[in-house]
Amino acid sequence: MADMAKLILDGKEYQLPVVRGSEGEVGLDISKLRAQSGAITLDPGFGNTGACNSAITFLDGEQGILRYRGYKIEDLCKNSTFLEVAHLLINGALPTGEQNKEWHHHITHHSMIKEDIKRYWDAWPQTAHPMALLSSVVSALSTFYEDSFDVFDPRQVEISIHRLLAKIPTVAAYAYKKSVGQPYIYPKNSLGYTENFLRMMFAMPTEDYEVNPILAQALDQILILHADHEQNCSTSTVRMVGSSHANLFASVAAGVCALWGPLHGGANQEVLEMLELIQKDGGNVDKYVAKAKDKDDHFRLYGFGHRVYKNFDPRATILKETAKGVLKTLGVQDPLLEVAQKLEEIALKDPYFIEKKLYPNVDFYSGIIYKAMGFPTKMFPVLFAMGRLPGWIAQWKEMIESPETKIGRPRQIYTGANVREYVPLSKR
Ligand code: CMC
Repeated sequence: MADMAKLILDGKEYQLPVVRGSEGEVGLDISKLRAQSGAITLDPGFGNTGACNSAITFLDGEQGILRYRGYKIEDLCKNSTFLEVAHLLINGALPTGEQNKEWHHHITHHSMIKEDIKRYWDAWPQTAHPMALLSSVVSALSTFYEDSFDVFDPRQVEISIHRLLAKIPTVAAYAYKKSVGQPYIYPKNSLGYTENFLRMMFAMPTEDYEVNPILAQALDQILILHADHEQNCSTSTVRMVGSSHANLFASVAAGVCALWGPLHGGANQEVLEMLELIQKDGGNVDKYVAKAKDKDDHFRLYGFGHRVYKNFDPRATILKETAKGVLKTLGVQDPLLEVAQKLEEIALKDPYFIEKKLYPNVDFYSGIIYKAMGFPTKMFPVLFAMGRLPGWIAQWKEMIESPETKIGRPRQIYTGANVREYVPLSKR
């Protein structure tokens, strides 16, 4: 007999199958609960709800473990490239030498975007947030590829994956160029993924541009660290939109919008703006820690806390070292790093942060690195989106291919008015 849990409701007993994951995680299968008992579960924010079985990413928030397809994030950061990791997440295995060449070739040869798309940019204000441009253009890309909308045709899905991975860096760099009023730089096929992106961002048509390999490697590592994080807000959005069989472009565009929020991928921009604010205010870290603890103040310490990490965020641990390395390479003495270190020190000793298990997350250090590399703050969430793209794709593909998938459609407990008599306007 299968492992069962018992639920007693209104004196009646119900059996709920127990599901166990490969790392010992335990879930109660309630998929038949409503049909059998009339009851549903209520879990605002889904902190206790598993939406799917997934073989992509394992995360243990208590122990600070993050693995993609079984590989430790630390090993991947040390030994792999972002494109190899994208292959791993999407196809389930690290590529062989031959597969790697082919994968690079496909992605390199789809990196241009249609000239028509550039006209979109002309209509937008120069101050437009690049996340708005990114989500709009990802959605608009679908208008050029209506031949690949069939989510059940593996070839159509494959080419959409190549196009998305290839074009997002180009779109991201163009969004930046628009914001500073500089000419767009076309992708260059002889360069690697991250080098090509850095060149499209920072080169000018008037001058040669040499990509600093240390910075390219650091950015590649940052992208690896962001590549997947199981069922987070944006990934759940991509799965939810895709569950209606919306095409990959539409699903990913929705993911970009979900990521933009300051509680999710937009937090890296918020962190830097917060550090600048503290610095301008005389570096009074205690004042801002006090504000973050004040229930009547909406201020939060951005870059602190995580829904699942309750010990430390392994991505932040790696990035703290990367930040030091990048600043040293560039010879940058950023006073914001000092503010960040002071903030971390004070918050980690504070009973409020200790009790609530609030530790620096991935966004805490990434902004300092991006700033040192020359990215404007508004581009930070875009870099998160570039990194998260393989995860969104892998999760969307797993969802589409799974026989368990149904359209996402949560229920609710209705708390509104009971049936009322309609009162005509003249009598109200
Ligand atoms: N500063 C001050 N208080 C905080 C913070 C913070 N950064 N984070 C959580 N708290 C408090 C919160 O007020 C609540 O207190 P109480 O129990 O008294 O009501 C308690 O800690 C639990 O917080 P929560 O908001 O209920 O927890 P959550 O799991 O819903 O939220 C979070 C997680 C990441 C949204 C939240 O910690 C937060 O807003 N952090 C700042 C934004 C941030 O850095 N986001 C990036 C997350 S990492 C990148 C990613 O994967 O998106």
